[in-house]
Amino acid sequence: MKVLITAGPTREPIDPVRYLSNRSSGKMGYALAAAFTEAGHQVLLISGPTKLDIPDGVDLIPVETAADMFEAVEHHLGRMDTAVFAAAVADYRPQEVPEHKIKKTGETLTMELIRNPDILGSCRGRFGFHGVLVGFAAETENLESNAREKLTRKGCDLVIANDVSQAGIGFDSDRNQILLVHPDHTESLPEDEKHHLAPRIVREIEILAARP
Ligand code: PMT
Repeated sequence: MKVLITAGPTREPIDPVRYLSNRSSGKMGYALAAAFTEAGHQVLLISGPTKLDIPDGVDLIPVETAADMFEAVEHHLGRMDTAVFAAAVADYRPQEVPEHKIKKTGETLTMELIRNPDILGSCRGRFGFHGVLVGFAAETENLESNAREKLTRKGCDLVIANDVSQAGIGFDSDRNQILLVHPDHTESLPEDEKHHLAPRIVREIEILAARP
């Protein structure tokens, strides 16, 4: 099948030399891209800036901002069978981006932020996507109930929930501990390397894609 994966952070410019971002390394999304390719699927990886090598056989579209990622997903989603959203997209961006570097003038600096588009949340409605839709949920509390709320609100077939408040798993780590949140049940997988969890997630998605 044809699989679109988003991965990594987005960078939202503040001025020509500064940006807002987060600690996503891209490891989870790249591990999934490698696992889908190894299982014989065709992968398009839409990735924010990372230091990772592109897995063999994967097509990459590099992006910077949430708006870039939105545009790339909108352009390519129509020919995909499955889409997996592992990227940590910035929810807000600075409203004004000055042409020149912001100078130190006062003791405080106030910046107005505006909402970025919800890319995963646009798939079913605005993009009209009917394939298998898989989101992630990065939570610091009420892991399962928050993930289940995202599953319903964003029209997903599966949400992969991770607790990003725990050191050593989740953001910028080789390891993760995940819950597979389905519409009718939840399965907890033991903590493991992202590279070991990825083939397990691929098998779960293959089962969803094979449903009549
Ligand atoms: O990159 P790593 O260092 O390996 O870390 C992996 C990870 C922790 C980033 C990954 O496992 C993960 O949880 N990714 C989703 C992070 C996130 O932003 O979660 P969220 O709960 O805020 O968003 C819910 C879902 O909506 C996610 O699938 C996200 O990609 C998507 N989203 C969110 C906001 C937005 N504007 N557009 C989106 O598509």
